[in-house]
Amino acid sequence: MQTDPYNVNIRDDSGPWTPRPTLGGDDYRSLEVFDREREKIWWGDWITVGRAEEVANPGDFVTKDVAGESIFITRNEDGELRAFYNVCSHRGTKFLDDDSKGNVRKAFKCPYHAWTYDLNGDLIGSPNVTEDEYFDRSQYPLHKIAVDSYAGFLFVNMTKDEPRPLLEALTDGAESITAFERFKMEEMSVGVRLVYNVKANWKIIVENFNECLHCPQIHPELVQVIPLFRFGEVWDEEIRDDGNIMIEGATSFTKTGQSELPKFPNLLPEDYQMYYGSYEFPNLMLNIHPDAVMYYIGFPKGPNETLVISEFLFRPETIADPELFKPEPVVEFWDLISLQDWDVVERAQTGVGSRAFTRGVYPRQDRFLYWFNEEWRQKMGRPLEG
Ligand code: FES
Ligand SMILES: [Fe+2]
Repeated sequence: MQTDPYNVNIRDDSGPWTPRPTLGGDDYRSLEVFDREREKIWWGDWITVGRAEEVANPGDFVTKDVAGESIFITRNEDGELRAFYNVCSHRGTKFLDDDSKGNVRKAFKCPYHAWTYDLNGDLIGSPNVTEDEYFDRSQYPLHKIAVDSYAGFLFVNMTKDEPRPLLEALTDGAESITAFERFKMEEMSVGVRLVYNVKANWKIIVENFNECLHCPQIHPELVQVIPLFRFGEVWDEEIRDDGNIMIEGATSFTKTGQSELPKFPNLLPEDYQMYYGSYEFPNLMLNIHPDAVMYYIGFPKGPNETLVISEFLFRPETIADPELFKPEPVVEFWDLISLQDWDVVERAQTGVGSRAFTRGVYPRQDRFLYWFNEEWRQKMGRPLEG
């Protein structure tokens, strides 16, 4: 269990509470705030960008848009991850297309003047630049970005300072995906991918993920499977790793509580009837089930818009066997819940855009959101509200 540096008493559902304010309207809609978020949050510390399997082999590459910066991740000949800005050192040209992936074998070539870079980002070819120019190629590598992986997730850190260790970032929040090593997510593969373009600020999506006050009204099917959610709670003090027990007899996160998917091996006995949710600041929202893992990765497109990637992980041997790989009930259930959520977060976004909205209010069941807002304020260099 993680510590609580912001003193919000987040796990105590009966502790003292007085109404706390939400973020302000401008925090959800203004370009100025969004610009500061880009520097402080999206380019200032570790964020999740995808899965290591997207660049499984040397020479594989994948491009990502991080709050308007195009970057790419690759793997060098020693199998080590590398990440760079998608910017040529010659005259700045963006050399890989958006949303592209593939394998370049040994080198990246700029489409403009054909300068080439090896998998470590070193400039190895600059046609027609001649010896007598005393041109030292080693001075013009690609612009490097820190990259690392944990539990099969890919993380980048675009800070201009020295990046802190990834593990430090992963363990300093209210929840941590490091609590779930027994699920061996690094061995899993993406079996299904859904993409949603949500017309809402990324923080509204995170806030919605981290509360269940809305569950009884928005998710009638979900509260059938996880009874605690009827009460608007997301944490059950009695259960380790913030698990939520499913209804009696349920062993899978589906409408019926059943699925034909093989269960993950070697878990704790109670894991086979549990739902676990975990949030890693700023953009990884993880859901762990006995036979599938689903996560959202949010990529902000502006103050009012977020691309949400929803991917489903399974054991590779399950995906490989058509007799075993029957993900539909889990995927359909999640897609239903996601669409219910996107509908309501888009309404929330519209509302916070009104001139009538200055700040809203958090009751006790929203305490994790207040905690998230404190963490956001701290990253943004604003005073904490306490
Ligand atoms: S800008 Fe890339 S080679 Fe000229
Ligand atoms: Fe929801």
